[in-house]
Amino acid sequence: MRKLIIAGNWKLNKTSAEAANLATELKREVSDVMDVDVVICPVFTALSVVQDVVMESNVKLGAQNIYWEDAGAFTGEVSGPLLKDLGVEYVIIGHSERRQFFGETNATVNKRIRAALNHNLTPIVCVGELLEEREAGKAFDVIQTQCTESLAGFSSEEVQKMIIAYEPVWAIGTGKTASPEQAQEVHKFIRDQIMKLHSEDMAQTVRIQYGGSVKPENTAELMSQPDIDGALVGGASLKSEAFAAIIKNCCTVNK
Ligand code: 13P
Repeated sequence: MRKLIIAGNWKLNKTSAEAANLATELKREVSDVMDVDVVICPVFTALSVVQDVVMESNVKLGAQNIYWEDAGAFTGEVSGPLLKDLGVEYVIIGHSERRQFFGETNATVNKRIRAALNHNLTPIVCVGELLEEREAGKAFDVIQTQCTESLAGFSSEEVQKMIIAYEPVWAIGTGKTASPEQAQEVHKFIRDQIMKLHSEDMAQTVRIQYGGSVKPENTAELMSQPDIDGALVGGASLKSEAFAAIIKNCCTVNK
């Protein structure tokens, strides 16, 4: 049985003061939730204040990116040791916005995952197809390539430590959610890819999140699908009430 994991990707939003407020409200609203792992991923500049708020609570801290070198002449980057220093436990890698706007490739995703694991950070590895790719019937090819190349060279034990997030790009910030059946089909496909690269038993332990216009109203139906093990939430994670409702709606799901 895989424990559901809900992560909030705050993207480029919230000053430190706003982030601390949001974390404080969320911590209060989900303090009694034990059956679901809860993670929030603020901007780098707010990690420290948010950690002060969530420390020793059931809300865990994540970052939105990691560079593969630890230190040196790499202006503008943030590395594993620096994230660990702030109490970060998770890191989003290869988000479609990084791929679209910042030249992220499967090869760089692979290096970032390696860096995260080297520093005992749990990578949340994002994959997902564009609308054109889905319409051209290429969604599964794209996902297969992303999985194979991003996860190349990792042992079964290492892949077991990762979380995969399936985020169809056409569903991100559009209000257009993948139907539970559409999402389940891809999640099952991703699990099958992991199975082919490793083993059936091992693939059954990997958690695969869905992301793309997740809101309180569609959470339970998505999470009740057999291969959907949580959500990576953008817009709705910026309001404590909506994000807490998503988390609480997970607690009602029976698989
Ligand atoms: P939305 O929930 O705003 O669609 O964003 C999803 C996402 O990109 C999370 O990483």
